[in-house]
Amino acid sequence: MSDIRSRKPFAICAGLVALGVLTTTCSSSKSTSAPRPPTELWGELKPVVSVKELMRDMLDPASDYVFESVKTQVTKDGVIETEPKTDADWEKVRIGAVTLAEGAYLLKIPRPFAPPGDENNSAGPNASELSPAQIKAKLEADLVLWNAKIEALRNVGLEVLEIVKKRDAKELWDAGENLDQACESCHLIYWYPGDKALLEKLDRDLEKHSRRQGDGAPGRGTPGQPPK
Ligand code: HEC
Repeated sequence: MSDIRSRKPFAICAGLVALGVLTTTCSSSKSTSAPRPPTELWGELKPVVSVKELMRDMLDPASDYVFESVKTQVTKDGVIETEPKTDADWEKVRIGAVTLAEGAYLLKIPRPFAPPGDENNSAGPNASELSPAQIKAKLEADLVLWNAKIEALRNVGLEVLEIVKKRDAKELWDAGENLDQACESCHLIYWYPGDKALLEKLDRDLEKHSRRQGDGAPGRGTPGQPPK
């Protein structure tokens, strides 16, 4: 990441050289060290938790504010549709959107993938998840891809923020699907790339779904489906 940032001033200079301006400034800065970028961070970024805990304790609950705001529940008394209506309803959606949009970048801070000693479900015949070491190796092999997945999540956060401004519940249905997509497309690469894992996930979703039908308890990370 710092690599990219430190290359920027040079790229700008190169652009200016191409335009035929400021040639002397740029060529002289080549020999000395590059000037400090004006957008210096306010402080050092130090992680507190692993990726797994950041998911469990921050990004997943934040996404529920969005997923739970629009949903269809089939109960024995009929179909119940939920959409944000009151100020308080929209406030929750906004909290979710801001937490996701800002929180996504916390995934750029190098941190362990799981707490010490937690190897995920990565060993034995029923292994369905990659181990933290395998996830790390995947990420390090292609940082651009990891960052693209982070941007994709951030973009959905921004999309939801715009929807909150317009209070457009219809668009929120689509955004919920985009959010699910942003989460799952990263998980399918880094967390559970196998088919088996996908089946297990479908099982989990089904289980969540039936739990929702029963008592309406909030599920985790699965959007309600828009009415067809
Ligand atoms: C940039 C990639 C990425 C994105 C985007 C992402 N995740 Fe994750 N997530 C991971 C990885 C990697 C793990 C597995 C970490 C581990 O177990 O070592 C994970 C694990 C999880 C877990 C498991 C936590 C636990 O305690 O077992 C949950 C829940 C989760 N993610 C929810 C979400 C939700 C909801 C979203 C979207 C709002 C999301 N994630 C977006 C990469 C991502």
